[in-house]
Amino acid sequence: MAPAEKAEPIPLGRLPRDYRTNMGPAMARCFADFGPVFRVHGLAGDYLFLIGPEANRMVLHTHREAFSTAIGWGEVLGLGEHLGHGLLSMDGPVHADHRRMMSPAFAMGHLGQDLGVMQRVAAERVADWAARGTVDVFEEARGLTFAIAAETLAGLEPGAEVEAFSSQYAQLLDLWNAVPAQWRDEAWHARRDALRQGLRAMLLPKIQARRARPAGDALGLLVAARDREGQPLSDEQVIAHMNTLLVAGHETSTSLIAWFLYLLSVHPEHLARIRAEQETVLQGRDPASAEDYGRLKHLGWALSETERMYPPIPNGARGILQDVPFRGHLLPAGARLFYSIVGSHYLPGVWTDPERFDPDRFAPPREEDARTPYALVGFGGGPRTCLGINFAKLEIKALATHLFRHFDLEPLPDQDIRQRYEVSAAPVAGIRMRLTPRP
Ligand code: HEM
Repeated sequence: MAPAEKAEPIPLGRLPRDYRTNMGPAMARCFADFGPVFRVHGLAGDYLFLIGPEANRMVLHTHREAFSTAIGWGEVLGLGEHLGHGLLSMDGPVHADHRRMMSPAFAMGHLGQDLGVMQRVAAERVADWAARGTVDVFEEARGLTFAIAAETLAGLEPGAEVEAFSSQYAQLLDLWNAVPAQWRDEAWHARRDALRQGLRAMLLPKIQARRARPAGDALGLLVAARDREGQPLSDEQVIAHMNTLLVAGHETSTSLIAWFLYLLSVHPEHLARIRAEQETVLQGRDPASAEDYGRLKHLGWALSETERMYPPIPNGARGILQDVPFRGHLLPAGARLFYSIVGSHYLPGVWTDPERFDPDRFAPPREEDARTPYALVGFGGGPRTCLGINFAKLEIKALATHLFRHFDLEPLPDQDIRQRYEVSAAPVAGIRMRLTPRP
């Protein structure tokens, strides 16, 4: 916008009634009614919604310096106070510095070492599911993803130690989800502080042990790291990073796994193609290698389609640091915004028949995601793309490959299969499935 041009007021929108359980199509309707940016009255004041690849590109890439993740996730959503100041509560050079410290633990080379743990945990847990016959795959995936994150990122011992941490983090998360920020009272804060103190007491000996015995996992990298002034991180900083990694590292994957297994169980024609591809590519190799998973194209396309339809993080939060012109409007400094991940995933102008499960949209020659950069943003995008994107995809592929090879999956009848969208998104009442061994 040229300086002399007058900015158009940002339209006032209204979130449809089915917003909480049908957010993607609901946001696509908002896009049609109000455009790619609109205002909404919230209990804690107005905020903006931005929808679509153009907006995503601006927030995540071209104008990212004008948008603060620390304000969005750290302050507005309260993550900083809840978990400590990890990556999602940081901005600018400090963020870049701390991200650099942890990145080697998430590089493909290192993930190759984590794969053994992913495959062992997947095989053990799935054997237990099969022994029980029917399970809620959402609930079960939570235990599985936490165990993998805890063992690979923090070197926790499988069994009692992992379970003790898992229970403490589950309580902390439940507390966060139970009461919206504006209604949290003294009792809520006291409970939260007690849980955080408990976690601190559990993590401190782990930190001391890593200082004594270095390792290349995320915890090992953090205790050995030096910041730009050459200083080591304090215990509080290491704890905040581990809290963030262990929470971000399992809740999201849990939701995506549940939907992935469900969607393939109700689309047997796609599952059949995945199984046929497994046979050709793997030639009986069990477990597969990290490179093998990269060659399972149908598996990857089905996973991308699940990410598109049921992104575990539906919206990304930001504070606006300076005025930004966008499509004739001015996004004002001081305002808060959400870039709508799930809304962008349901725009008819971007995706063919967006409400249909259609993994082939990611295959050549269609490649609908590649045709429009920043259309698929289930893991965010740009320099702050999810740190764990490759970790999450590898663990999900390892689990699914094992399951599809050895078991048939069938959802139990009469379930309420919908997503509930909050800060993160999860099935409203889990997803119960029956497992039967394949011949
Ligand atoms: C299916 C699984 C996952 C999904 C859908 C997911 C999604 C996301 C999204 C959307 C963001 C960006 C948020 C924004 O732009 O506002 C993000 C950031 C992040 N994620 Fe993930 N995530 C997943 C798994 C993981 C795992 C396994 C880890 C770590 C073990 C992880 C760690 C992080 C961290 C540390 C950030 C902040 C990065 C930064 O600000 O530099 N995530 N994730």
